[in-house]
Amino acid sequence: MSYENLAVVTRGGIHTITVKRPSKLNALNRQTLQELYGAIIDASGDDKVRVIVITGSGDKAFVAGADITEIREQNTTEARRFSAFGQSLMSMIQSLEKPVIAAINGFALGGGMELALACHLRVASSNARLGLPEIKLGIMPGFGGTQRLLRLTGTTVALEMALSGEPISAERAYQLGLVNRVVEAAELENAVKELAGPLVKAAPEAVRGILQAIQQGADMPLEAGLALETARFAVCCSTEDMQEGTAAFLEKRAPELKGR
Ligand code: COA
Repeated sequence: MSYENLAVVTRGGIHTITVKRPSKLNALNRQTLQELYGAIIDASGDDKVRVIVITGSGDKAFVAGADITEIREQNTTEARRFSAFGQSLMSMIQSLEKPVIAAINGFALGGGMELALACHLRVASSNARLGLPEIKLGIMPGFGGTQRLLRLTGTTVALEMALSGEPISAERAYQLGLVNRVVEAAELENAVKELAGPLVKAAPEAVRGILQAIQQGADMPLEAGLALETARFAVCCSTEDMQEGTAAFLEKRAPELKGR
C-alpha cells in the first residue's frame, strides 16, 4: 500500500512507519491520521512484522502535533469527531498485540506526544522536546494526552505539563519515566534496533500476554489484573515455544523459537 504522508519499510521483522510531512514538522492532518490507522492495521495483520516503530521524518520533529490549520476550521461536531478518531487511533496502537516503539527524533508536541505515549516503548534523541502546548492555542489535548500522561506520571506532572504548555527535555522525560532511553540523535536508530531485536525473536504468545496483562492491568483492580496474568500465563505454557525455551535452558543451548 502506498501513502502520501508516510514511508513504511519492513526489515528483519521490524516495521518502521515514518510520518512524512517535514515542511509541517510532521503535523498530523486528517489524511495522515487516516494513513497511520491503515498502516498500523496492515502491520498488525502481517505475520512478517514482529515489532512496529513509529518515527518522524527529518531531524527536527517526531510529530509537532495535530495540524493547527485543520483544527481552526472545525465546528464543535467536527472537533468531537476529530478527537474521537485521534483517540481511537491511539487506543488501537496501545492495544496492539505487537510491541510498538516510538523513536522520538525531535519535537513531540500535542498529538505527537500523545502518539508517543500510546506506544509501548519510547526512545528519545537528546534533542527531543515533549509537551502538551494546546493550552497556548486556547484548547486542550484531545488525543488521550490528559489520560495517558496522568496514568504514566500522576496528577502533579500531568497538571503542570498540560496547564503550562511548556515542553520538557528528553532528559527530564527520562527522569519522569516518560521515555525508556535517551541517546544522541545519531544513535537513535541503533538504540531502537537494540530494543526491537530481542522482541523480533521472542515468543509471540509471551509478547502478547505481557502487553495485554500490563496495558490492561494498569486500569484494572489488582485481583482482576492477576486473573488476567494467570490466564495469559497458562496460554503461554501451551505453546511449542515454551517447550523449546525451557528445554534449551536445561540443555544449556540457545533456544530456536518458532512462534508457535
Ligand atoms: N500544525 C500545523 N503546522 C505546523 C504545526 C502544527 N502542529 N507545527 C509546525 N507547523 C508548521 C509551521 O506552521 C511552519 O509552516 P510554514 O513554514 O508553512 O509557516 C512549519 O511547520 C515549520 O514550523 P516553525 O514554527 O516555523 O518551526 P520553528 O522551528 O520555528 O518552531 C515548533 C518549531 C515545534 C516550536 C513550532 O512549530 C510549534 O510550536 N508548533 C506547534 C506545536 C503545537 O502547538 N502543537 C499542538 C497542536 S494541537
